Amino acid sequence: MRPFFVDTLEQVLPRMNMTEQNTRGLAGVVAAETGLSFIDGAEGRLWYRGFDVHALAKHASYLESVYLLWYDALPAAIELSAFEGTLARQRALPPAVLDALRCLPADAAPMAALRTAVSALGQVDPEADDISHEADLRKAGRLVAQLPTIVATFDRFRRDLDLVDPDPELDHAANFLYMLSGTRPSETAARALDTSWLLYLEHGLNASTFTTRVVASTLADMHSAITAGISALKGPLHGGANEKAMEMLLEIGTAGSVPSFVDTALEQKQKIMGFGHRVYRTEDPRATHLRRMAEELSLEAGDSRWYDVSRRLEVEMFERKGLHCNVDFYCATVYYSLGLAIDLFTPLFAVGRTAGWAAHVMEQHMHNKLIRPRAEYTGELDRPWVPIDRR
Ligand code: ACO
Repeated sequence: MRPFFVDTLEQVLPRMNMTEQNTRGLAGVVAAETGLSFIDGAEGRLWYRGFDVHALAKHASYLESVYLLWYDALPAAIELSAFEGTLARQRALPPAVLDALRCLPADAAPMAALRTAVSALGQVDPEADDISHEADLRKAGRLVAQLPTIVATFDRFRRDLDLVDPDPELDHAANFLYMLSGTRPSETAARALDTSWLLYLEHGLNASTFTTRVVASTLADMHSAITAGISALKGPLHGGANEKAMEMLLEIGTAGSVPSFVDTALEQKQKIMGFGHRVYRTEDPRATHLRRMAEELSLEAGDSRWYDVSRRLEVEMFERKGLHCNVDFYCATVYYSLGLAIDLFTPLFAVGRTAGWAAHVMEQHMHNKLIRPRAEYTGELDRPWVPIDRR
C-alpha cells in the first residue's frame, strides 16, 4: 500500500491533463462555433447571418430578421407574411400562466416576473421536453409570440387595469404597445420599438447567450434555456444596464451637470452605465441607430432634454476615458421617449433577444457537445481529516 502522501498542485495538474491557463471572465476565449452572427470589435461591425446590421436596421423588420436567423435566408414576401401570421395567432397566454402572473406581488420586478412566466410556459407547453429541431422551432415561435404578452400582462396587472387582448391585425411591436397602453401607437413609436428589438436580437456569445447554450448543451429543453438566459440578462453589467443608464440620466438632470457627475463617479471608481464593452473597441454599431432614433423621438416630442444629457455624457466619457457607449445607453432614451416604465426596459431587451437565444439553443441542440470547462483550483489538497468531536 502506498503511504499517506500530499501532492502539490504542480504534481496533480499534469496528471489531470489540465493547463494552468486561466482567462478571467473568459475574455477572448472562443467557446463555440456559430453561423448566427459575427462581431468585428475593432471595426465596430456586426453581421446577422452575413447581413450587415446597418442594412437590416435600415430595411428589415424585427420578425424578418428573426426569420433570417432561424432559417438562414431572407424570407420572400409570402413566407414573411405566413411567419408573422403564425406568430400573431399564438400571442395569447395559457390560463395557468395568466394565473401565475396574477399571483405575483405588484411590486415584483418585471424581469423576475418574466423569468417566472417563461418557466411557467414550459410547464404547460405540449412539446416541452421534445428537443427535435422541428419542436424547437415551434417552441421558439410560441415564445417570441408570447413574451411581449407576458410583459404587457404583468404591467397591466400591477397597475390594476383590465387586460387588453392581442390584436392580430397589428404587427409585433405595435401590438405590444397596444396591449400595454390600450391605444394604438403611432407608426414612429412602433417602428422605433421594432428596430430596437432588431438591434437586440443577436450578439454572439454574450453572458446570457452563453448561459442558454450551456443549458442547451446538457440537452435540457428550450424553456429551461430561455429562463436561464433571462436570469443572466438581468444583471446591470449586461441587459440591466439600460434601466441603470436611464436612472443615471434622471439623476444627472441637465447637460450642464454632466461634467461634475462624471468627476465624482470616476473619482469613486464607479462604472458609468451604458459605456464600455467586452468586444467593441470602437462605436457599437447598434448604438449608431439608437442614437439617431433617440434624437428623432426627442425632436418629435419637442423635448430634447434627455437626448442632450446623453450626448454630453457620451462626449465627456470619450474625452476622459476613451470609452464608447454601448447598445443599452441610447436605448434608455429611446424607451423613455416612448413613455415606457423604466423597469420594463430590460424585459424589453429580453423580448428582442429571445429569438437570438432560441437560435443558439437550436444550433447547440443540432451540433451538441456538452459545455463543461474547468476551474483553476486555488485551494489546498489533502487536508487531514479531523473527527467532529476534535474540531
Ligand atoms: N465606466 C467607467 N469605467 C469603465 C466602464 C464604465 N462603464 N467600463 C469599463 N471601464 C473601465 C474599467 O474601470 C477598467 O478600467 P481600469 O483598467 O482602469 O480598471 C477598464 O475600463 C476595463 O473595464 P472592465 O470592466 O474590466 O471591462 P470588461 O470587458 O470586463 O467589462 C463591461 C465590460 C462589463 C460592459 C463594462 O464596460 C461595464 O461594466 N460597463 C457598464 C455596464 C454596461 O453598460 N453593461 C452593458 C454592456 S452591453 C450588454 O451587455 C448588452
